[in-house]
Amino acid sequence: MAVPVEETGISEINVYEERNGIQLAKARGIGLDIGTSAIKAIELQQSPAGMELLHYAVLPVPAGTIRNGVITNPADIGAVIKHVFKTGKIHDKEVYVAIAGQSVVVRQVRFPDMPADEVHNAIQWEADKYLPFSPEEAVIDFHIIGPAENEGEIEVMLVAAQNELVNSHVAAIEVAGLTPVAMDVQPFAILRSLGLESLESQRCSGLIDIGAGTTDVVIFKGDSLKFTRIIPFGGQRFTEAVAEGMNCGFSEADDMKLQAGKVFFGDEPEINDPNNLSVKIFGILRPVLEEFLLEVRRSIDYYKLQNRGESIDELVLTGGGSKLVGLERMLEGELGIPARIGNPFENIKINPRQFNVATLTNLAPMLAVGIGLALRGVEEA
Ligand SMILES: Nc1ncnc2c1ncn2[C@@H]1O[C@H](COP(=O)(O)OP(=O)(O)OP(=O)(O)O)[C@@H](O)[C@H]1O
Ligand SMILES: [Mg+2]
Repeated sequence: MAVPVEETGISEINVYEERNGIQLAKARGIGLDIGTSAIKAIELQQSPAGMELLHYAVLPVPAGTIRNGVITNPADIGAVIKHVFKTGKIHDKEVYVAIAGQSVVVRQVRFPDMPADEVHNAIQWEADKYLPFSPEEAVIDFHIIGPAENEGEIEVMLVAAQNELVNSHVAAIEVAGLTPVAMDVQPFAILRSLGLESLESQRCSGLIDIGAGTTDVVIFKGDSLKFTRIIPFGGQRFTEAVAEGMNCGFSEADDMKLQAGKVFFGDEPEINDPNNLSVKIFGILRPVLEEFLLEVRRSIDYYKLQNRGESIDELVLTGGGSKLVGLERMLEGELGIPARIGNPFENIKINPRQFNVATLTNLAPMLAVGIGLALRGVEEA
């Protein structure tokens, strides 16, 4: 599903290579993830040998230039994007991007069974019922999921984004000299990046991407999407708490969180040492962790309520926030659902002569959105 930006026609990303006299089709795709804390670009290539990482680069975003998903200064962000492409040696210009934040709404709604063009009309008529902003100020798209539980009804995923947010992204991308082919909403990109959807399996998984500004929750069963929510709460809130508690600046607090941030469970020997920095930070993070947990729990409870108490088999975490030591164990213990950190590189070949595998493994959770977008680029090439 996408919020189309432009009709670009057939993209010319397919390249052909002569190898042993046989022409091999290679499809390429570029994902550009303009995150609140960092911009990531990923270029993937699908060839008969499989999916492979061609190029990538990550650069930090100047503090405060992205608020609630809206780019407040497209010229600055455009310059960073340009730099990211140069650093990563990415030369193609057509990119897939993702949007998230409070100006993006993803809602599952039910309609009487009707063809897609009628759903389109019904949504135009009824959009103001579902959106916290005026439909005139928004780009609206939808996707028919399938029959609803009630006979004669269909389940429809409604996606809307405020023009201001969409336009700010297009402006920044154009400043960088690139062309946005399509915009995905972040939860869909994450879902694609982990490749967990399966027709055969009836496993129900919950994906939680903890970014700097937002946390995206996606619940799906087998190959069908059941629920998505964008929670306006992420790693930035944890850093702000540390900055306040330790009486220091944001970037010093972020370093401190990265070096010493840890969730304790009471069975660690250092928990009784009042001078231990990790213990101190944990004391500061505790109320924020509880607030975070409450938001995740709410999403899961809502899903269960809508799906006759259906249980979730596993939680898969991505995003930089998932790297907080002990967080997955905390979610597992509090929610009673097995949790692990997802690896979006699981089905992607990495050439160890070209890339530092340890660095990539470390960055992997943060690259899920970019990889999911690049995979879409490859699919549509
Ligand atoms: N080791 C770590 N421990 C705790 N937090 C971490 C760690 N590494 C990164 N983070 C946090 O992860 C966040 C960045 O993650 P990510 O790159 O996924 O976010 P983003 O994509 O920029 O934000 P968003 O998706 O909300 O727009 C920051 O808040 C950072 O402090
Ligand atoms: Mg992100």
